[in-house]
Amino acid sequence: MAITTQQLIQWKQQGRSIVALTAWDYAIAQLLDAAGVDLILVGDSMAVVLGYETTLPITLDEMIYHAKAVRRGVKRAFLLVDLPFLSYQESIQQAIHSAGRVLKETGAQGVKLEGGYPEMVKTVARLVQAGIPVMGHVGLTPQSLHQLGLRQQGKTHETSERILNEAIALEQAGAFAMVLEHIPTDLAMQITQKLTIPTIGIGAGLHCDGQVLVTSDVLGLAEKNPPFAKVYTNLRQTITKAVQDYALEVRERKFP
Ligand code: KIV
Repeated sequence: MAITTQQLIQWKQQGRSIVALTAWDYAIAQLLDAAGVDLILVGDSMAVVLGYETTLPITLDEMIYHAKAVRRGVKRAFLLVDLPFLSYQESIQQAIHSAGRVLKETGAQGVKLEGGYPEMVKTVARLVQAGIPVMGHVGLTPQSLHQLGLRQQGKTHETSERILNEAIALEQAGAFAMVLEHIPTDLAMQITQKLTIPTIGIGAGLHCDGQVLVTSDVLGLAEKNPPFAKVYTNLRQTITKAVQDYALEVRERKFP
C-alpha cells in the first residue's frame, strides 16, 4: 500500500526514521521503491542530472515530464515533487496553478516549496486549504543561491531563531513535513523537538526524523558533491569501465 502523510507523521511519533531519496526517471524510481525507500522526491536538484549548473533554470514542464516517469516506477513510496524556481513565488494563484498541475498531471501526492516568512507561509496555508499536501524546506534553500550562497545557514543566534520560527509557522500553516537543509545539528534537533510533523534532514545531523540525499550523489554519478553528501558507490567509474570494455571488444571484433 502507498505511504501517506498520516503514515509519515505516525512514524515520527513512533521514532521510526524516514528514508528519503530523489529520483528523476522510471528506472531509478523503480529501484528506489523496490529497495524500500519511504519517500521519493522529484527534486529540482534534478537540474544537475539535466546538465544545468544550478536549480534555477529547470522549468515546471521539465519537472512534470520527469515526475510522470518517476510515478510509473513508484508503487509504495510517498511521491513528492519540487515546485521549481519562479513557479510559485509570484502569487498564491500561481502557486495553486503550478501545484495543481503537478498533482493532476503526474499523480504525485504532494509538492515541496522553499522558504518561509512571510509570503511562503501564506502560500502554504492556501495550498493546504485547496487540498494539496505541502512539505516545507528551510535552512539552505538553493533557489535563493544568489542571496544566501550554498553555505550552512542558522549559525548566528538571529538566523537560527528565524529558521526555527519559520519552521513553526510553516507547520501552523499546515505543512505535513519539513526539509531542514545544511543547518547546525543543535538547531535541527531543536526544530525536530518543537514540531509535531516530521523533519527530513540533509546536512542537518542525526536528530531529524528522517534523512534525504540526492541520489546522483549517493550513487557517485555527480561530478561534485556537497560536503554533507555520502557517496555509497562510484557509478561514474563503473559506467566508464563498462563502456570502455564494450568499446574495446567492438574495436577488436570480440563482440558479438
Ligand atoms: O531538490 C532536491 O533534491 C532537494 C533535496 C536537497 C531535499 O530539495
